[in-house]
Amino acid sequence: MSGLGESMRKIVLAASVLLTVMSAEAAEQATIDTYNKTCVICHGSGAAGAPKFAHQEDWSPRLAKGMPALKESVHKGLNAMPPMGMCQDCSDEDFEKLINYMSTGK
Ligand code: HEC
Repeated sequence: MSGLGESMRKIVLAASVLLTVMSAEAAEQATIDTYNKTCVICHGSGAAGAPKFAHQEDWSPRLAKGMPALKESVHKGLNAMPPMGMCQDCSDEDFEKLINYMSTGK
């Protein structure tokens, strides 16, 4: 039954490739939870001029600054945004994931 074994192997391989692709595209649940606890307070509605969630026009001039500059803005605070964006235990890596999520919505 080597033929059947071979096709099973291909199916398993295809499924794992698909899963990898899917998890790379969607934001992690932890990132979504953090966003919903902190950044959403301002970025959900665009309060005080905050770039709105997944709003391309708001985000494109911001993204043009590059990720390192954006992470620094959150870290230090920027005008009405308090330092750390109200997420005191977020790391710079968390900020990067949050920025990717809130600028694209995924
Ligand atoms: C108290 C409100 C508030 C919270 C909470 C907040 N922000 Fe902001 N954020 C703002 C405002 C207002 C701006 C626009 C500042 C400006 O350009 O004057 C902004 C701008 C930004 C920018 C663009 C910075 C730049 O250099 O252009 C990023 C990135 C950002 N926020 C990420 C986050 C993340 C990530 C969180 C959650 C951890 C967060 N913010 C939480 C108010 C907030």
